[in-house]
Amino acid sequence: MDHFLYRDGVLHAEDVPISEIAAAVGTPFYVYSTATLLRHYHLFDDALSGMDHLVCYAMKAASNQAILKTLAEAGAGMDVVSGGEYARAKAAGVPGERIVFSGVGKTEEEICQALTGGIRQFNVESEPEMDVLNRVAMSLGLTAPITIRVNPDVDAKTHAKIATGKSENKFGIPIARAREVYAIADAMEGIEVIGIDVHIGSQLTDLAPFETAYNKVAELTEALRSDGHNIRRLDLGGGLGIPYTQSNEAPPLPTEYGALIQRTVGHLGCEIEIEPGRLIAGNAGLMVSGVIYVKSGEGRDFLILDSAMNDLIRPAMYEAWHDIVPVIEAEPGVEQAPFDIVGPVCESGDTFAKERMMPPLSAGDLVAFRSAGAYGAVMSSEYNTRPLTPEVLVKDDQFAVIRARPTFDEIIKRDTIPQWL
Ligand code: LLP
Repeated sequence: MDHFLYRDGVLHAEDVPISEIAAAVGTPFYVYSTATLLRHYHLFDDALSGMDHLVCYAMKAASNQAILKTLAEAGAGMDVVSGGEYARAKAAGVPGERIVFSGVGKTEEEICQALTGGIRQFNVESEPEMDVLNRVAMSLGLTAPITIRVNPDVDAKTHAKIATGKSENKFGIPIARAREVYAIADAMEGIEVIGIDVHIGSQLTDLAPFETAYNKVAELTEALRSDGHNIRRLDLGGGLGIPYTQSNEAPPLPTEYGALIQRTVGHLGCEIEIEPGRLIAGNAGLMVSGVIYVKSGEGRDFLILDSAMNDLIRPAMYEAWHDIVPVIEAEPGVEQAPFDIVGPVCESGDTFAKERMMPPLSAGDLVAFRSAGAYGAVMSSEYNTRPLTPEVLVKDDQFAVIRARPTFDEIIKRDTIPQWL
């Protein structure tokens, strides 16, 4: 459930008509609903309520500081994957002890930044990384708390570009080698082993792969404990999928996911961390754009929008489906027709949807892409020197621009012309 509903025929974000935001901000833009963000965070928090736990929002999904602050004030921790994300989380007021650092390629600078700024734990993904972490921590006179990310060789049954838990993927260390690597970690003076980390992929619509992976983590916990390690925290990653269509998709609910966690690892008495991104932000955001032209082609008609693949890359990159709805609700019974919905960028890949049934629309009308809150604005670019899409946050009847659209001047001034020109 989200808070984007039609009222008197106009799509609203909570109590604000989308058309009002469009008039103030211009199109395209992203808009997020505070109530939806919080609702999703609390679904996870409640689902784990029987266990000592922390929900660490995977901020790569939508990292505007206003979103981070909204979630952090509700109690969320953050899962970060770069020095930039770490700095953003800190700037939004998240304390170091609620920040988890993930990622396969943490640099020495990033490690140093997080160690000195404060960190809950590093999720270590390789032995070379562990060596660097140990060395940097020792040079600072600190101890780095770690989990080791294990690769359980489980097929997450999701899009190949976002599956991470198979042995052929670059993530984690093979679970079969875990005992050996934990022994090495244990001998390192700058490192304190806290627990185990696993993340098998994103947009999982079935709980079975989670169950297989978490059972393997439970087994490993017992084995490591018998080796003498004090395993007291399990980071179970993110990945729970969301419905991208309003009709035929029903991915498992956070309550069912919470019950699965309880069933598979609850008996171990560990503190549980999860790193959901998409389920918190995905259906809490829309991308709104305007129709520039309605063009009749040979055998097909096109809706040419003022948003493009640079604003929302998911359809071009993952063949992703986003529901696209008119901001002014179609009259009941109005006849729909198929359109290819495209942006203005000179690439055929700049196509949001093919043969999508839409009500009649004209130039100047507004449409909204649903489920665009996660991996939307954060993956946008200025390709074609199209200004970065602005972001807006709504709370009840208020809205605020939380990232402004840069002017052409601001964009152009970022270039520097070398002295020989
Ligand atoms: N933890 C780790 C270590 C991750 O790599 C990810 C996502 C998450 C947590 C959060 O997963 P989520 O709950 O959001 O599924 N750009 C792609 C998705 C990339 C996901 C990358 N890792 C998309 O638009 O579908």
